[in-house]
Amino acid sequence: MSLLSIEDVDVSYGDVQVLWDVSIDVDHGDVVALLGANGAGKTTVLKTVCGDLTPTSGRVIYDSEDITGRPPEELVRAGIAHVPEGREIFTESSVEENIDLGAHATPTGAAERKSWVFDVFPRLKERRNQTAGTLSGGEQQMLAIGRALMSDPELLLLDEASLGLAPVLVEDVFAAIEEVTEHGVTVLLVEQDLHNALRIADRGYVLESGRVVLSGDAAELEDDDRVEESYLGG
Ligand SMILES: Nc1ncnc2c1ncn2[C@@H]1O[C@H](COP(=O)(O)OP(=O)(O)OP(=O)(O)O)[C@@H](O)[C@H]1O
Ligand SMILES: [Mg+2]
Repeated sequence: MSLLSIEDVDVSYGDVQVLWDVSIDVDHGDVVALLGANGAGKTTVLKTVCGDLTPTSGRVIYDSEDITGRPPEELVRAGIAHVPEGREIFTESSVEENIDLGAHATPTGAAERKSWVFDVFPRLKERRNQTAGTLSGGEQQMLAIGRALMSDPELLLLDEASLGLAPVLVEDVFAAIEEVTEHGVTVLLVEQDLHNALRIADRGYVLESGRVVLSGDAAELEDDDRVEESYLGG
């Protein structure tokens, strides 16, 4: 059964509708990639799942419960962690302070989770006392993911984790995502890097102008020319 089902969702910003009838299923333990050109609505989908936005129609079902319209803090406690576009780390605080802040809503077991996060990202452990703003771009991205893991998520929403990173750092971030999934965390990720995304994904959805135009197994999508075409603006 699905961990997350987005069912026929419409979303608007004010009077401007940007998602139409979007349905997405994410099974327990899967990595699902959300693909599509700039402005297609990928970030809007993640914001709808994490509670930043409420759909005008349709439902979001998580763990068999209707969570449509619930506030983000409640959804963090329910197991949904969101790593937004642009990382949003606390640049003046240390790496370890940033990590600790990730557990504020879910303090039970935080010490064990911190040692797990430092195992997944040894580079963060080495740099635990460094000011977060002085980390490299890739390290900051790892910190954002590590901080999200501190909330003990069942579902991790990742928005453009590899954006703007040099290829070697992109590899590191994708390796880290794979490691996270090996610990049973389910992942819904938004990516411009469609080949890397489909390499680690089980399934994928392609959005075009706010609608799902294609979905399927990652391996099938990898061989489908329409996926690349959708990035050129459809
Ligand atoms: N706060 C907002 N107010 C009004 N319109 C918005 C707002 N945020 C996004 N939009 C519009 O909604 C549409 C979908 O945006 P969204 O950010 O979901 O796209 P995206 O697929 O994540 O794009 P990108 O790849 O560039 O990040 C775009 O047309 C965008 O201009
Ligand atoms: Mg986006």
